[in-house]
Amino acid sequence: MPSLAALYSSSFARSARRSSLLLALSLVGAVIALPSTAQDTAAAQDPAAVERGFAVWKGQDCTGCHGWAGNGERIGENPTGPSLRAIEFPGDVIKEVVLCGRPGSDMPAHDPQAYTDDRCYGMTKADIAGQRLLKGKPMTADEANDLVAYLLDRVVGRPNQPNQDDCLAYYGEKKKRLCERYPTAESQGL
Ligand code: HEC
Repeated sequence: MPSLAALYSSSFARSARRSSLLLALSLVGAVIALPSTAQDTAAAQDPAAVERGFAVWKGQDCTGCHGWAGNGERIGENPTGPSLRAIEFPGDVIKEVVLCGRPGSDMPAHDPQAYTDDRCYGMTKADIAGQRLLKGKPMTADEANDLVAYLLDRVVGRPNQPNQDDCLAYYGEKKKRLCERYPTAESQGL
């Protein structure tokens, strides 16, 4: 059970705050059987891992298809990736999708060793023979862990429209004017 402070800082806590029952339960420190997704997003992410993960996000190929804010607004003529703000998977599932891709779709595998053994969904090359498999920019397992920390902290569960803070963090102060077109974090209740 994460500390109350950690719960408060998480996006789950923001929705939990609206539920007085959940809030009361967490105040008395009762153990709540949260579904795994909620538990994962409730867990406070290590800030250093989140920062490293942000660097991975910016340096990888994700934004081309999922958009700089992960909301599914692809850049240029890339295939369109779904919004990552709307997903409800726990971190280990996100990590597997990132490293293993989704055979048969435009979601690339980023582990260079994917499907050389059964590390990906228990499947090998023979199992996915004939299916489309894109190869993304290579990524280590450590980078994937950091990237997942970033996604859970700043992307997953956020409103689909990015806010000014997201924009400034991604593009920097030089783009302040451009970022003003987005809503403030405050107006999103963040
Ligand atoms: C070439 C385009 C492309 C790139 C690059 C790409 N994705 Fe995807 N991604 C997709 C598509 C298309 C899907 C939907 C796959 C399907 O139909 O199941 C997807 C699915 C996903 C999903 C599952 C979402 C869901 O709703 O099922 C996650 C998580 C994800 N991508 C994360 C990433 C991350 C993180 C990166 C960068 C490391 C990345 N993607 C790079 C196109 C891309």
